[in-house]
Amino acid sequence: MISNQTILITGGAGFIGSELIRYLIGNTDHKIVNIDKLTYSGNLESLNSIKSHKNYFFEQVDICDQNELKRIFRKYKPNMVMHLAAESHVDRSIDGPDEFIKTNIIGTFSLLEQARKYWQELNSDLKNIFRFLHVSTDEVYGDLNDSEDLFLEDSAYDPSSPYSASKASSDHLVRAWHRTYQLPVLITNCSNNYGPYQFPEKLIPHIILNAIDGRDLPIYGDGKQIRDWLYVNDHVRALLTVALIGEVGETYNIGGNNEVQNIKVVETICDILNILIPERLNSLDSYRELITFVQDRPGHDVRYAIDNTKIKTNLGWVPKENFKSGMQKTVEWYLGNLSWSKNIQNGSYKLERLGVKL
Ligand SMILES: NC(=O)c1ccc[n+]([C@@H]2O[C@H](COP(=O)([O-])OP(=O)(O)OC[C@H]3O[C@@H](n4cnc5c(N)ncnc54)[C@H](O)[C@@H]3O)[C@@H](O)[C@H]2O)c1
Repeated sequence: MISNQTILITGGAGFIGSELIRYLIGNTDHKIVNIDKLTYSGNLESLNSIKSHKNYFFEQVDICDQNELKRIFRKYKPNMVMHLAAESHVDRSIDGPDEFIKTNIIGTFSLLEQARKYWQELNSDLKNIFRFLHVSTDEVYGDLNDSEDLFLEDSAYDPSSPYSASKASSDHLVRAWHRTYQLPVLITNCSNNYGPYQFPEKLIPHIILNAIDGRDLPIYGDGKQIRDWLYVNDHVRALLTVALIGEVGETYNIGGNNEVQNIKVVETICDILNILIPERLNSLDSYRELITFVQDRPGHDVRYAIDNTKIKTNLGWVPKENFKSGMQKTVEWYLGNLSWSKNIQNGSYKLERLGVKL
């Protein structure tokens, strides 16, 4: 892609979207337009470091609102859309699926429609370079048995939760807009991300923040569920690679080659904390003593794992972090940025109140 382009990012105040924007503003000269509804999981504080940059623009917009999207396309005339806005938490989708259907399906449809209308009116040069990147999840494939199988780009869709079903639905819409209208789309299906600025209710931040507060570390079922963990910065580099040199109409699976059981994730965090903060609460010998097993989530998928050969071989992307190095960075980030989580959680942490240096 030529330099100095305009990229429209949806959901840029979320976990992955904000990493993408910080990366783009820090490493390129593209103009970034962030549209975000600012739901519970959107947090403009995650963009404090770049919010005054001359190439950054923010508009609070719901992607279900076609009039607003039309205004945005006319005002900024983007060369690319990177679509990340979504309702993204599986547990919330089980408790209340409505918003997932609205944002993930109707929202994606609205964005596709406005992108199509805008794209069809572009001159042929601009039409040729325009791209629509849809960011999806490996959860659309359902789960794997504990065998050697891995998800491939052509694995059958078999979603389990309202979240994954709504994402699967949005993937089908994106493919249809390519087949029917030739909109130049690309799709990525990614494994579980972790890293800085992830909303505190997700597994890894939840465990870190509970541990430093001396609270239980809850694990669903027996904790043997396997996820293929990907460091968020590796993910955003993959997204850019696909957007810039991926083949239009193609799907790329993105995974970190880090299959780890949930219990092992929690134990790893405890072991890092044991070294970083030896002053523990309630005379614990190890943070591992806080681990408790709770009733499993309904329909909980056992194993996800991605075969990332296509993106590695065809586009030359490789993840830089392994699970150990990425987890160390992540735990250190949460300890060094407690005010970010505190503002979301509306409180402070016991170890901090006791004057322990975190
Ligand atoms: N986090 C993961 O592990 C993971 C893995 C694979 C794929 N994904 C996908 O990546 C994308 C980003 O995930 P995330 O973890 O950053 O999610 P997130 O929940 O942290 O962020 C979602 C963002 O979308 C915004 N948003 C929600 N509804 C909106 C609407 N109607 N209009 C405009 N903005 C809206 C929110 O305010 C928030 O800023 C999602 O599409 C998700 O399905 C995430």
